[in-house]
Amino acid sequence: MAQAPARTRAHTDVEPSKARLVGGNAQIRVAIVGATGYVGGELIRLLDRHPNVQIVGLQGRGRDEAPVGSIHAHLGRTGYHVDASLPYADAVFLALPHGAAAAMVPEIAARGTRIVDLGPDFRLHDAADYPRWYGFEHPAPELLADAVYGLPELHRAEIQALADASTAIVGAPGCFPTTTLLALAPLAREGLIGDLVVDAKTGVSGAGREPKPELTFSEVNESVKAYGLDGHRHTAEIEQELGALGGSPERNPGAQGVDFVPHLIPMTRGIFSTSHVRPTRGITQAELRSLYRDFYAGEPFVDVADSPVSTGQVLGSNVARVHVTMDERSGRIRAIGVTDNLVKGAAGQAIQCFNILFGLPETAGLEQLPLAP
Ligand SMILES: NC(=O)c1ccc[n+]([C@@H]2O[C@H](COP(=O)([O-])OP(=O)(O)OC[C@H]3O[C@@H](n4cnc5c(N)ncnc54)[C@H](OP(=O)(O)O)[C@@H]3O)[C@@H](O)[C@H]2O)c1
Repeated sequence: MAQAPARTRAHTDVEPSKARLVGGNAQIRVAIVGATGYVGGELIRLLDRHPNVQIVGLQGRGRDEAPVGSIHAHLGRTGYHVDASLPYADAVFLALPHGAAAAMVPEIAARGTRIVDLGPDFRLHDAADYPRWYGFEHPAPELLADAVYGLPELHRAEIQALADASTAIVGAPGCFPTTTLLALAPLAREGLIGDLVVDAKTGVSGAGREPKPELTFSEVNESVKAYGLDGHRHTAEIEQELGALGGSPERNPGAQGVDFVPHLIPMTRGIFSTSHVRPTRGITQAELRSLYRDFYAGEPFVDVADSPVSTGQVLGSNVARVHVTMDERSGRIRAIGVTDNLVKGAAGQAIQCFNILFGLPETAGLEQLPLAP
């Protein structure tokens, strides 16, 4: 099939638009930085079908008019190309390794562009957490206080409020924290987390597209391994958000010093997170069920399931499914969450935040059902 004509155009000379103030059928100009990676590719796939988005630029290092199909073969039909330069856009999504976005964001934000960063550079509120967890000094600590943690189910109003702010930065959560926090949030709000162990699994795409010896087929296939045992970075945002949900640390003593153990499993997409919680007080299965049903009532992307959930149930969709049970014998609550790491765990959630920020229907561009079998 002939390659479709290139569809992205440079808009470097275009004045900042007011598109962010317009809802309905507004066409919002969007650019993606880090378009060559897995998350970048998923952003292209979803945003190409978004009714209110015009993709005006895809950026990748050292590229010049590179057809997107030469980088992401499955996206070749879109006809986009990838360039080294970043055009003016109303909104920019950044899908870069940690540290890279923090270096670019001040300049992009100064143009009035709204930013959704999918890496960790704007998730943590305390600048001191960056050297501690990520090994770099944050180059723009003054921006952290106003950046919003982009988990809409917990921070919808704050994301909405960014619409009128001079600088708008959303730090979209990691895939493990998204899945784990959605499974735990109702418990944390009620001050029920007395002690917490999180056992989580990820598919291999969670580690990105960059080739690494430990991610080759022979290393990963037919094998499961735990990693990050000396303190996985995602622990920081899990503790930050659980702490905030409880109001004060004393209400959820198990929400600090969380024992978080991630595992790599031979699967392409998906996060499966099981939290084992010793509750601060007795609670029945019926109470748990109504607590979760009430907490997620009206949420467009969270299903509270009565039976055990699986990653296959959410594949390719922005849906998170949670299942909670009280184990009377052990006295522990088991709160299980599943997501597709590249959709609700990354690109889909970032678009959900973008929709809220621009006053669009929250589900715009995100209504596809999961893919099965
Ligand atoms: N994968 C997931 O499931 C997932 C989920 C949630 C969040 N995230 C986060 O999203 C971000 C991207 O993840 P990914 O899985 O898409 O990774 P990836 O597949 O490895 O892609 C990384 C992208 O960043 C670019 N890049 C690498 N180093 C760079 C640098 N120093 N300066 C500028 N660009 C650079 C790469 O472009 P080149 O082509 O130039 O190398 C590529 O486009 C990471 O922060 C990750 O933690 C990932």
